Amino acid sequence: MLVSWPTLTEEITRCQKCRLCAGRTYPVPGEGNPHARLMFIGEGPGRDEDQTGRPFVGRAGQLLDKMIGAIGLSREEVFIANVVKCRPPQNRAPEADEVAACMPYLRAQVGLIRPQVIVLLGSSALGAILGPDHRITRERGAWIERKGVWFMPTFHPAALLRDESKKRPVWEDLKKVRDKLQELQADEPNA
Ligand code: URA
Repeated sequence: MLVSWPTLTEEITRCQKCRLCAGRTYPVPGEGNPHARLMFIGEGPGRDEDQTGRPFVGRAGQLLDKMIGAIGLSREEVFIANVVKCRPPQNRAPEADEVAACMPYLRAQVGLIRPQVIVLLGSSALGAILGPDHRITRERGAWIERKGVWFMPTFHPAALLRDESKKRPVWEDLKKVRDKLQELQADEPNA
């Protein structure tokens, strides 16, 4: 059975299922439209997110806002979440047991939102959702469909901040996302 949003948020707020809870200021459950057709999944909170309890509010977040705007949407229209809800120390990638402990929350969020399209931002999101054998450099830009949900792996906005040459491929990936949302909407019975 699906949990409700209030129960889920409460569980995340009190969670002590892995070591990351010890270092957190605030957990970062995620935010946005609970009925979003499009969801973005990042890696985990950084310093700014830990301080505010909100996902993607630092420099990478500002870039993510621009990416969302570039396909004609706003932050409020989509849902933004992370693989882990608490900040890993020194912004390291979350470890396998931390991801495993936190995944039920992300699965519950996806189950409540039921988005049509999910953008996987970077290798942690790709690995956590689709499995450890997947590689972002090899698979970005190619649709993967699972149980009626369309996944688009692309580079994490923090990677774009480090390497400008990733901007063009990410833009190409986002155009595919925009087109897929239009295509899916056109297929809906009352479109
Ligand atoms: N990077 C992420 O993966 N998630 C955030 O919320 C912020 C930065």
